[in-house]
Amino acid sequence: MNRISDRFLQLGVLAALTGMSLGVYMGATQNFTLSPVHAHINLLGWVSMLLYGLFYRAFPQAGQTKLAVVHFWVAVLGFLIMVPSLAAEMLGHKEIAPVLGAASVVVLLSMLLFVVIVFKATSAKPATA
Ligand code: HEM
Repeated sequence: MNRISDRFLQLGVLAALTGMSLGVYMGATQNFTLSPVHAHINLLGWVSMLLYGLFYRAFPQAGQTKLAVVHFWVAVLGFLIMVPSLAAEMLGHKEIAPVLGAASVVVLLSMLLFVVIVFKATSAKPATA
């Protein structure tokens, strides 16, 4: 059972569908105002979440820890706050800047947690017989 991996993979493909749909919409309307939003849905959602999911598949024990659960929720929270606040800012709502700034820090924190998780998983000593 690897629920963290499953959830990250599911969110990754949903983000791909959303980001690509926005890309098609931008192309069809020739309105590229939301290009940075499209890029962040694809890169923070599709690419990063898919990589997180694949990592937890490759290192299943890392996915069984409380730290992995914290990492999941921090990554999802950061993504879900950052994308709409970035969209609002691109649409001219400059007053959203503090929320966008806070969301960016949450996203950065999720990567810091992932750094710790990756280092722990890849520094584990092999069990001796
Ligand atoms: C159906 C698939 C996709 C479509 C139709 C699409 C369409 C677009 C369009 C129309 C633009 C704006 C180009 C311009 O400003 O002249 C764009 C920009 C961009 N796209 Fe996509 N895209 C797709 C998939 C992806 C994926 C999978 C990624 C990343 C994993 C990605 C990353 C980017 C980036 C980084 C930019 C530049 C954003 C910026 O300059 O602010 N796109 N895309």
